[in-house]
Amino acid sequence: MTAPLRAGEPIAVNVALGQRSYDIVIGRNLIGSLGTRIAALRPGAKAAIVSDATVAKLYLSATEQALSAAGIPAVCIVVPPGEGSKSFPVFERVCEDVIAGRIERGDLLVALGGGVIGDLAGFVAATVRRGIDYVQVPTTLLAQVDSSVGGKTAIDSRHGKNLIGAFHQPILVIADTALLDTLPPREFRAGYAEVAKYGLIGDAAFFAWLESNWRQVFAGGSAREHAIAVSCRAKAATVARDERETGERALLNLGHTFGHALEAAAGFSERLLHGEAVALGMALVFAFSARRGLLPAPEAERVTRHLADVGLPTRIADVPGPVPSADRLMQLIGQDKKVRRGALTFILARAIGQSFVAPDVDPADVRAFLGDMLAGS
Ligand SMILES: NC(=O)c1ccc[n+]([C@@H]2O[C@H](COP(=O)([O-])OP(=O)(O)OC[C@H]3O[C@@H](n4cnc5c(N)ncnc54)[C@H](O)[C@@H]3O)[C@@H](O)[C@H]2O)c1
Ligand SMILES: [Zn+2]
Repeated sequence: MTAPLRAGEPIAVNVALGQRSYDIVIGRNLIGSLGTRIAALRPGAKAAIVSDATVAKLYLSATEQALSAAGIPAVCIVVPPGEGSKSFPVFERVCEDVIAGRIERGDLLVALGGGVIGDLAGFVAATVRRGIDYVQVPTTLLAQVDSSVGGKTAIDSRHGKNLIGAFHQPILVIADTALLDTLPPREFRAGYAEVAKYGLIGDAAFFAWLESNWRQVFAGGSAREHAIAVSCRAKAATVARDERETGERALLNLGHTFGHALEAAAGFSERLLHGEAVALGMALVFAFSARRGLLPAPEAERVTRHLADVGLPTRIADVPGPVPSADRLMQLIGQDKKVRRGALTFILARAIGQSFVAPDVDPADVRAFLGDMLAGS
């Protein structure tokens, strides 16, 4: 882990994927340099900016100005905010608007927004004219540390989230940390769960650093840049080794099996944001790992304490509304993951920073654990 750089100096993290390699540039007030950075990569290209109405109101004109100052003509496509825009009707509209805007092979899309816009615009870029380039300008913490990096793009099916998509890497990611100043605190906290996740997966020193410095990460400044850069480095390294999730990339799903079940139980609603579900899922995974004797109980309690300190949920009872039963949660876990030869694959931990893929978890153990958690023991 490197020491935080001086404020104001952008940090570049490379995603090493051969010919499809790209940089993630992280720093405050970077949006003004977007046009010159794109022009340097794709001289003469036109652009379509895809954004949601909330983000567009805040940052579309700065983005347009940055492009036009570099001589890049741009059309703007604005969709409603929220997960509902990862749908066939909105996908169709954005594709048609991109084509009507005369965006050809050799031109590009700019995804200006959170994970919803990144996933939607990325999937449009993967399919229009059999694939055009795109640039991610993530505007949520979750998008800056997770969804904008790695090339997974998707919309939702009525059968489930992210079921229609493609792997399509961006050519550049610009993470302007100043854009996060307008993010609602609850959204920032939810994104922070994914930051803590990188410490819990493979970097105990980073987790310890977060325990001491999380307030500065929330406040902004160089600690925020540092946390985002460490997170992006971790994700970039994992993606470079396993782009299509045949192995190690699965570790990035730490906390997500329990998390997805809890999100589904809450109806994918405002009751529980994705990052909140991940925080709760990670607390459960560490408690479950301790129960299996993989790590000492105080280590699991340390995870719970840090997540609770920042204001994230760590107990199922923290989720407002009706509490799901253990059977209901098991049913949802079964929908999310195939039970292979009577066993579930889980990401478990031997310590903070030592997560691993456990392919042999007995569903009965998980059921008993959830029953005890719900009973409050
Ligand atoms: N592709 C991947 O690898 C990957 C990884 C994780 C999550 N995801 C996807 O990401 C999505 C969630 O992303 P998200 O949490 O960023 O949600 P989001 O894109 O819906 O953004 C959350 C809310 O914040 C608003 N917002 C965004 N930036 C803002 C800003 N700077 N100031 C004020 N408001 C702002 C948005 O309008 C929205 O209402 C899900 O669809 C999930 O499936 C994808
Ligand atoms: Zn996640």
